[in-house]
Amino acid sequence: MTEHDFIPKPYTIAKQTGKVSWESPSNIALVKYWGKKKDQIPENPSISFTLNNCKTITTLSYSPKENVADFSFEVYLDGIKKDDFKPKIQTFFERVEDYLPFLRQFHFKIETQNTFPHSSGIASSASGMSALALCLMSIEKSIQPQMTVEFFNQKASFLARLGSGSACRSIEGDLIVWGKTDSIQGSNDLFGVKYPYAVHENFKNYQDTILLVDKGEKQVSSTVGHNLMHDHPFAKNRFQQAHTNLESLKSILKSGDLDSFIELIESEALTLHAMMMTSMPYFILMKPNTLEIINKIWKFRKATGLHIGFTLDAGANVHVLYPKKESEKILEFIQNELVAYCKNEEYICDEIGFGAEKIND
Ligand code: DP6
Repeated sequence: MTEHDFIPKPYTIAKQTGKVSWESPSNIALVKYWGKKKDQIPENPSISFTLNNCKTITTLSYSPKENVADFSFEVYLDGIKKDDFKPKIQTFFERVEDYLPFLRQFHFKIETQNTFPHSSGIASSASGMSALALCLMSIEKSIQPQMTVEFFNQKASFLARLGSGSACRSIEGDLIVWGKTDSIQGSNDLFGVKYPYAVHENFKNYQDTILLVDKGEKQVSSTVGHNLMHDHPFAKNRFQQAHTNLESLKSILKSGDLDSFIELIESEALTLHAMMMTSMPYFILMKPNTLEIINKIWKFRKATGLHIGFTLDAGANVHVLYPKKESEKILEFIQNELVAYCKNEEYICDEIGFGAEKIND
């Protein structure tokens, strides 16, 4: 498929008001997306677990307007008008307008809320942009009712990617691949696809306890970080490594080899941060407590043989990953020994999820 497959044939748009709602989850990458080309094309393939509890709920109300010179929209978070969200949505609308010819013909009211604390430092761009993309797709589906579910999901993911790269992995679950790589059939740079191969029982119901180490604004946005990969001295090897890791992950997911899984995801997380520390300008997003937690996890794993591992996103928070069957002892350890390193002792219990859902009124 190419971008052109997402440009619809000319259609007639009924000038009527309407309203649509979706809830869409966040996701956590196992092999990381870090580095992108023009038009939100990733430099390397990535794979993620879709989450279940960390979600954005968005209602999009639309009403026809006469003046089509500009986009017209207003944004609310938890009922409060958020003009500071507008530039990001404006950019998103500009990127997707060729694919959604109705965009200029309506005024939109975007009402959004997150199930996780707003100030948690958890990226809401993946869940937020995917929820908005899904709402827009529901409008297009009402114009083109014959659209298949497969195409709906592909285009929703394609549009979400243009809002935020990782958002394209939030439409479906439970494991999503984005970015072309030879070892995964159907993988492509334009949208996320469901991981198409066998997954061992060990990885069903995988748990993700998110330790909120630092809830402040990120010092460096993901977009800036991605761009720093352009002249990065280790970029070529890193992009190649992501392909190799995805290929290795394929046999790990099939065999259920938890030790190799942990080794791979922890190496990916630390490589992501190593890329940040070796870019120019360089930066560090981990905090002292991030390292305290990592060391405690390693010590506990060595002492108990339990399959507890971690990953990181572009921030200081730690995602603690473990199989459901070991959750009793691991949760006890988290509560007794790790929560003390969180800001205000806050953490979120999440697990693998199966993707976004439409909310019917
Ligand atoms: C570290 O998707 O937030 O979480 O495309 O610029 O919006 P933009 O970046 P974003 O980057 C996420 C990077 C990451 C790794 C990952 O999710 O794969």
